[in-house]
Amino acid sequence: MTFNPLVEKGIPLDRQLRNWRELDVEPLDPDAVDPYTRCRVIVMNGIEIESIMFSHHMARTCPDPEVKRQLAYTRYIEAQQQKVVNWLLPPIASTLETTIAYEQVAVDLTAWIARMEPDPYLKQAYEFGVLEDFDHLYRYANLFEMIERRKARKVVDDLTEVMPGRPTTVHHRHPYDNVRDPYDRNTVDPLSKLHALTVMSAEQQTMNFYMNVGPQYMEPIARQLYVEIGMIEQEHVTHYESLVDPGETWWERLVNHEYNEVYLYHSFMTQEPDPKVKAIWELHLNMELAQLQAACDLMRRFDGREPEEVLAPQLPVPVTFEPNKEYLRHLLGTQIDLTTLGAGYVREAHERFERLQEQIHGDEKPASERVIDMHRERFGGEYRIETEGPHPVESLRRPEDGDR
Ligand SMILES: [Fe+2]
Ligand SMILES: [Fe+2]
Ligand SMILES: [Fe+2]
Ligand SMILES: [Fe+2]
Repeated sequence: MTFNPLVEKGIPLDRQLRNWRELDVEPLDPDAVDPYTRCRVIVMNGIEIESIMFSHHMARTCPDPEVKRQLAYTRYIEAQQQKVVNWLLPPIASTLETTIAYEQVAVDLTAWIARMEPDPYLKQAYEFGVLEDFDHLYRYANLFEMIERRKARKVVDDLTEVMPGRPTTVHHRHPYDNVRDPYDRNTVDPLSKLHALTVMSAEQQTMNFYMNVGPQYMEPIARQLYVEIGMIEQEHVTHYESLVDPGETWWERLVNHEYNEVYLYHSFMTQEPDPKVKAIWELHLNMELAQLQAACDLMRRFDGREPEEVLAPQLPVPVTFEPNKEYLRHLLGTQIDLTTLGAGYVREAHERFERLQEQIHGDEKPASERVIDMHRERFGGEYRIETEGPHPVESLRRPEDGDR
């Protein structure tokens, strides 16, 4: 059965407002949460935050008071949706536990999208980025055991492996080299636009999270690691947002945002095992459908175009959280030594890269290296989850390989 979001009606906008009782959701059980349910919650929070911030930016450039009021109304609904979604997160989870879940999202969401992306240049951008968040997961997992004496396996389960990716120390590139070429809005597959928006929103939320939670720590190594990886998440937002064609009109962008919300709530509704969470995905899907219709009306009125010209005629295959271990191992084996030069990718460290590396590191080891050294000193080894055998890159194997 095909689902065409442009013909489904959903819940009328004037019936979408919820009272305090309806906003007061029961959170996920911290002891029994399905890691991928938590991943879906994190993605949808990132998507709702992007929809709010996008709407604010659009309103700031909008001279028409009637449209401004309409944007304000929908944005209020989006803000309620964001509260409901993010308040599902299991309470009493530590910041580091949530951080590890954020990196798990970055790994398994980006890997899945890379696998599905039809455009080779865009696919390369996701394959490049995913190996970096994969490495962040490993660094934070080691910090987690050191600071909280807990294991990342409790958070990610055996769904996502934890081992070195492209080393965090080389993610610090010259900002010029983080700007990619955009897709062409007229010729690109509509699915590619949704992919770019989704990954950009997830990275943006991670950037915001680290910049706010980093200073909560007392331990110098934790404070320093959040500074270092926080800087990289900003690079990642630059990397992914530059894929989007800047020639899209505001109306077109609004329609793409609402369509993407429909796509993701629909995707997650079809795979959610937790019935209470599934009901929220379904409710929000029905809200987004009407929000999409309203955005389409604005596009027809102000852009003089039919939304069908820019949107996929039916929803693409659902975005799915599932293990991507084999694919990631393949990328580790083939792309770990890549860096960027201008809008492209190279294997050699070039001059601009080397200069920035010298400036930012001086002759000190960054926190991402020291956290592993400290873990080795205190625990006699490093923390990894290698469920599929030793690391695919020989130089990154440990003498004692296998999971502890
Ligand atoms: Fe929304
Ligand atoms: Fe990351
Ligand atoms: Fe990232
Ligand atoms: Fe929306």
